[in-house]
Amino acid sequence: MPEQKKPKLRSAEWFGRDDRDGFIYRSWVKNRGVPHDQFDGRPVIGICNTFSELTPCNSHFRTIAEHVRHGVLEAGGFPLEFPVMSLGETLLRPTAMMFRNLASMDVEESIRANPLDGVVLLFGCDKTTPALLMGAASVDLPAIGVSGGPMLSGKFRGQDIGSGTGLWQMSEDVRAGKMSKADFFEAESCMHRAHGHCMTMGTASTMACMVEALGMGLPGNAAIPAVDARRNVLARMAGRRIVAMVREDLGMSKILTRAAFENAIRALAAIGGSTNAVIHLIALAGRVGVKLALDDFDRIGSALPCLVNLQPSGKYLMEDFYYAGGLPAVLRELGEAGVLAKDALTVNGRTIWENVRDAECWNRDVIFPHARPFKPAAGIAVLKGNLAPDGAVIKPSAATPALLRFRGRAVVFEDIDDFHRRIDDEALDIDETCVMVLKNCGPKGYPGMAECGNMPLPPKVLRKGITDMVRISDARMSGTAYGTVVLHAAPEAAAGGPLALVRDGDIIELDVERRRVHLDVTDAELARRRAEWKGPPRHLDRGYNRLYVEHVLQADRGADFDFLVGKSGAFVPRDNH
Ligand code: FES
Repeated sequence: MPEQKKPKLRSAEWFGRDDRDGFIYRSWVKNRGVPHDQFDGRPVIGICNTFSELTPCNSHFRTIAEHVRHGVLEAGGFPLEFPVMSLGETLLRPTAMMFRNLASMDVEESIRANPLDGVVLLFGCDKTTPALLMGAASVDLPAIGVSGGPMLSGKFRGQDIGSGTGLWQMSEDVRAGKMSKADFFEAESCMHRAHGHCMTMGTASTMACMVEALGMGLPGNAAIPAVDARRNVLARMAGRRIVAMVREDLGMSKILTRAAFENAIRALAAIGGSTNAVIHLIALAGRVGVKLALDDFDRIGSALPCLVNLQPSGKYLMEDFYYAGGLPAVLRELGEAGVLAKDALTVNGRTIWENVRDAECWNRDVIFPHARPFKPAAGIAVLKGNLAPDGAVIKPSAATPALLRFRGRAVVFEDIDDFHRRIDDEALDIDETCVMVLKNCGPKGYPGMAECGNMPLPPKVLRKGITDMVRISDARMSGTAYGTVVLHAAPEAAAGGPLALVRDGDIIELDVERRRVHLDVTDAELARRRAEWKGPPRHLDRGYNRLYVEHVLQADRGADFDFLVGKSGAFVPRDNH
């Protein structure tokens, strides 16, 4: 049999040289005790690490990276770990989303500029996952994703409390006078008691599921708790596998196909996942040249049921999800129901169906069967109308069914500062029959499209025992949040979208079944208001802020930078020493 042709390793352009430059490339790397035989033509594997103490969800990544390193060495590769910008959701201002594209540029350029043949991407906290996938996809080397894993369930006075979701509930209880401040702050030490990312089905868990559904992670990647030894085993197996992927020349674009994205949309519906995934998946698809539109989420996912009973749509947490069978059990349900592209390839070289067809569910109160779902028709719905001509999204599984068809009077907040100034004012003319409207919180307006779309309700409404109202904005919301919240209205107010023209007292109609969000104001009146409209002033007009505002695309296009859409491949001109 003829010997299989091995792909030429790009690292050989650096480490395989027998000239002065080869000396330079190798000699400096040897300064920490690397033996010469590591430069014998074995695959060089980058371990792209988002460890940071400023990103608490990723603060255990030194350990994860060590397990990846062991795996790479065991498989005959040469591991080289490198840091990239890390994005901590809780500490970064004005919002971590503003830096997703910047981090993706760091990842892309770090991979391309260095002698790497393949890369293991370590991510966890919300934006770190799309940032690393997007950056790596633009280079298109073999890559495998390893999520850091969710935290253990929060425990407070005998009850489970979930990241974010429990906080939103308790803070509304404090505002309604139902919970003391002392009890509230006691819960603070109980909610996050272990390494890992948010353990609700928030954005981090959703994106970890997307990694698995896309085929970019090993089976089980999404749900193994961060502190479970099996998370370290998965990291080690990923280290072994990436070496083989380099030898097989299995680049990212061979996995990130249209079928893979359609599987991710279906999985997003089945897990009741975060609306943020819509933006990240569109942006990632743009990097690999897969045409994915906002309408695809409605067309492919909205009729699918939610199978997973996890907060914020349901009751349980990620630890329960793992013990119940995790994402493989969900994907098996989709496959058996005929709504999975079974042939989609994954990083382990097998199809997604080969990976999950024998998966078992161990708790039907956590993962429901497709034939008897947790919630029917629960995928993301895409709304259109004169209030959002390019679309807006709502997550019906986290909304109040009675509010999905609603007509009410608008109470308008010009920006998030205006909202905070007035929402607790007892004189504010608002009740539960109104629609809360928030402007200037989109990609350009905030800037960075903050997670403030799930506006807290006014105290006087909360005191009546009412827990949900219709809310509309150009913002995002935390994946851990819930409510009848219309998000990502495009074009955004700061870009002159119709949201900018809404005034107090206007009537707004929401009809999710008909996919409609409508401002009941005549075209002539809207034209008159548009002539008077002036955009909001920019907060900052230099540096990255300026680059961001000038180049960010609208939410329906994934909020990527216009100049980052697409890929450049792995070629880089050589340097001259
Ligand atoms: Fe990091 Fe929620 S704050 S995942």
